Amino acid sequence: MIPTCRQWIGAASSVVALTGAGISAESGVPTFRGQGGLWKNFKPEDLATPEAFARDPRLVWEWYDWRRTLLAQVEPNSGHRALVQLEAAKPGFTLITQNVDGLHDRAGSRRPLKLHGDIWRLECRQCGRDWPDRRAPLPKLPPRCGCGAIARPGVVWFGEPLGEVWAEAEHAARTAEVFLIVGTSSLVYPAASLAPIAKAAGARLIEINPEGTPLSAHADASLRGLAGEVLPDLVNVSRRDESLDG
Ligand code: APR
Repeated sequence: MIPTCRQWIGAASSVVALTGAGISAESGVPTFRGQGGLWKNFKPEDLATPEAFARDPRLVWEWYDWRRTLLAQVEPNSGHRALVQLEAAKPGFTLITQNVDGLHDRAGSRRPLKLHGDIWRLECRQCGRDWPDRRAPLPKLPPRCGCGAIARPGVVWFGEPLGEVWAEAEHAARTAEVFLIVGTSSLVYPAASLAPIAKAAGARLIEINPEGTPLSAHADASLRGLAGEVLPDLVNVSRRDESLDG
């Protein structure tokens, strides 16, 4: 199937990739629902909702600080880097990610559309400010804004709207000729609606995941493998070469 998928990508001018936690798994970042996934050990309702934050901002921040500290010790992998190569090769390429880990940025992706925000940004809902903060661990929890209010992580929590980036992601899906779905369980909406939107608009769907998902039956190709192995192959860059270029 890989040669056929390569042909589809080669012939397309607008290619879109949607990534999930699976693309960062080979960097040592736990996924959410896979083996050892974050939601196996922690309850999203206790840690990733505005209600949880209102209830106990310190607890929520201890968890985000733990994730930031873990992320500060890992590197992007060959899957992230292959998408940077694809972006360089295809002017009409768009990267959409559900990940807040910042590994696409660190790999060199020019402008990932971050549907769920960025763990390396802080926000103040009192004065409206938001700013980058890469300190890990943070010196004091919970961190505060200059206006004195408790800051929150720059991520989208369950039950919150996605913001302006959604319209751009939806447009990219509607105009895609090839839509890659990489390392996501396709269970969380509205992100999981992008592939069906692309399919309905005539795109070829290529899924990359070691396991089947609710989307697999609708994909034109569902490639069972790891993103860090399949993506370089698909993008026709060798894992060795691209590490020299990376
Ligand atoms: N390469 C490709 N896919 C992988 C790899 C890998 N190396 N390792 C695991 N996967 C797959 C798993 O099989 C699973 O289908 O990645 C998927 C990860 O799914 P989830 O843990 O559910 O993560 P994701 O789909 O990104 O979650 C969506 O849910 O919890 C919220 O906001 C959070 O953005 C997140 C959203």
